[in-house]
Amino acid sequence: MNADPAPQPRILVLASGSGTNLQALIDASRERDFPGQIVAVGCNNPQAFALERAAQANIDTFVVNHKDYGSREEFDGALMAEIRRHNPDLVVLAGFMRILTTDFVRALRGTMLNIHPSLLPKYTGLNTHQRTLDAGDKVHGVSIHFVTEELDGGPVIAQAEVTIDPDDTADSLAEKVQEKEHLLYPIVVRWFCEGRIQLGTDYVLFDGELLNKPMRLPDERVVH
Ligand code: GRF
Repeated sequence: MNADPAPQPRILVLASGSGTNLQALIDASRERDFPGQIVAVGCNNPQAFALERAAQANIDTFVVNHKDYGSREEFDGALMAEIRRHNPDLVVLAGFMRILTTDFVRALRGTMLNIHPSLLPKYTGLNTHQRTLDAGDKVHGVSIHFVTEELDGGPVIAQAEVTIDPDDTADSLAEKVQEKEHLLYPIVVRWFCEGRIQLGTDYVLFDGELLNKPMRLPDERVVH
């Protein structure tokens, strides 16, 4: 008699906007050997196109509208209740534009990832594309990190670079960076589901070993 296959890690995605990263994850999760399943998509913005994308893919959705709550604590409490209902192994922030409370982040420690459009630790916060242009940088990029209490400050797992050309604008850079985001996020989510990455005290373990610097695209280990 065959044993039942092990249940796949349950992934919950939180988004606020267009959801192109969500779409990249949905597309990746359709690959035959993808080691996880997206069980729900949550948004704080009821108009987010990410909700449409999830519905198209027959994924459960929920909205916790921050405008319905008087404080961050109340909003985070309601959001956490929805998250718990879906019992995820991994929470993926994919353009989720709310600052989360310390208690919320601590409760999901080691099981929550974020994507940030800069080569962290440079340019935490907003307007990263304009800021890198204003600084006269030659390269820019994207980082994927574990979420910790420090905003955009958790240990970085992987990065991908883009070259800044003289005629680049904030919009053209955003486009270039998003192309890399859509490649990199599914790879990192796959690693998590395969149990290859873990959050230590303030570092990342990759295959049980300390990751001294973020993985970079292209890198032979980044290609699966
Ligand atoms: C991405 O650029 C991501 O880096 C940032 O928010 C944006 C989300 O885009 N955190 P989308 O909703 O996935 O298209």
